[in-house]
Amino acid sequence: MAGEPRPRPPLRRVLLVLGGGLLALLLVIQLIPYGRDHSNPPVTRAAQLDPETRQVVAEACADCHSNETRWPWYTNVAPMSWFAQSDVEGGRKILNFSRWDTPQPSADKLAEVITSGEMPPLKYEILPNHAKARLDEREQRALIAGLRRLYREDPPAGIKVIGTKPRQ
Ligand code: HEC
Repeated sequence: MAGEPRPRPPLRRVLLVLGGGLLALLLVIQLIPYGRDHSNPPVTRAAQLDPETRQVVAEACADCHSNETRWPWYTNVAPMSWFAQSDVEGGRKILNFSRWDTPQPSADKLAEVITSGEMPPLKYEILPNHAKARLDEREQRALIAGLRRLYREDPPAGIKVIGTKPRQ
């Protein structure tokens, strides 16, 4: 027993191999074309929000619910690019402040998802550059009031009914 050299724990090697594998995987997934599109289609009719509400919508909703999406650098890097792409595609389909000439969900529906905290999504507001998307109760109430005003003064082309499983 005495003097027998203890085998060096292989942890360091395991970590190196794992790290190398992860790095290789990250490099390889960059080759997948999905998530590179980053297109901002033309604004066909912009919702006429008052300036304060417009500001809040720009910070908290418009990246996914308008055709004026900001695409920060990390949206060029997979897998973040995949999440961004799918959120923007899904978001624009269901509510689009740049296509006010097409039917949109009701003001009540918007109020509901804001009050429940469902929107903006947690994965969005936890990002450091989206700190302004974190709305406290007062900001939520102000946003809802501004959106109701919008629906009164500049209603969308129609109101579409959306269910829990959004389609179209
Ligand atoms: C990170 C992208 C993102 C942001 C930011 C965002 N949304 Fe959404 N929103 C989505 C996606 C994707 C869907 C559709 C899929 C779903 O139901 O999760 C959606 C769905 C909705 C719906 C329909 C909900 C339902 O029950 O079907 C409403 C209304 C909505 N969003 C309003 C808002 C409002 C208002 C804001 C700003 C306060 C906002 N969203 C911010 C991505 C986003």
